[in-house]
Amino acid sequence: MSKRVLIYKPFERFWHWTQMALIVFMGVTGFEVHGNYTLFGFEKAVQLHNLAAWGLIVLIAFAVFWHFTTGEWQHYVPRGEKISVMLHYYLRGIFKNEPHPYKKTELSKLNPLQRLTYLGFKLLIIPVMVTTGLLMMYDESLGVSFGSVAWWHTLGAFLLVSFFIVHVYMTTTGETVFSNIKAMIVGWEEVED
Ligand code: HEM
Repeated sequence: MSKRVLIYKPFERFWHWTQMALIVFMGVTGFEVHGNYTLFGFEKAVQLHNLAAWGLIVLIAFAVFWHFTTGEWQHYVPRGEKISVMLHYYLRGIFKNEPHPYKKTELSKLNPLQRLTYLGFKLLIIPVMVTTGLLMMYDESLGVSFGSVAWWHTLGAFLLVSFFIVHVYMTTTGETVFSNIKAMIVGWEEVED
């Protein structure tokens, strides 16, 4: 039997889509600053990138508060489950129509691979981007080398782009191509009882 449950709460959906929009925008302006193309013009791209950065920092502050006050952080803690089962499924099983090895529930909405990936995203990639970004903003007063910090920031940006591509592909591997994306828009999803 299946039932409809609220998997993604309203703040979570707001935070997810706002974060996505800001990161895409920061990717577009950031790679212009990096010199890959001209869209807004260098000066404007720097200005817009810095403005979006403060927006992202405020959003992250609210998201951290929300994760801890609601206990939602627990969804991201790996529980020692076998990642190999998930890897086997995504690399082979999915192409042979094997059943998904993990059943989503209200109390555990992320599979072991998602837990690990999103934890890395939250604890590694985002902190690296924010810290290196702030170091570049205040490089002169902090006495840091802009060039070497920019290298790490750019590396993080490439990791973010890779994450984005894999993440969007993964979202299409649910019950139907759009069922996971729909759940992140409306919040509700049909899960096994
Ligand atoms: C809060 C987070 C972030 C902060 C504070 C920040 C800040 C900055 C700053 C100050 C610069 C240098 C601009 C200049 O030349 O004066 C920069 C460059 C750049 N940013 Fe960010 N950024 C953040 C997030 C991101 C994200 C999410 C991406 C990609 C998705 C990104 C991609 C880039 C790229 C590719 C560059 C060019 C690096 C270079 O070659 O110099 N940034 N960022």
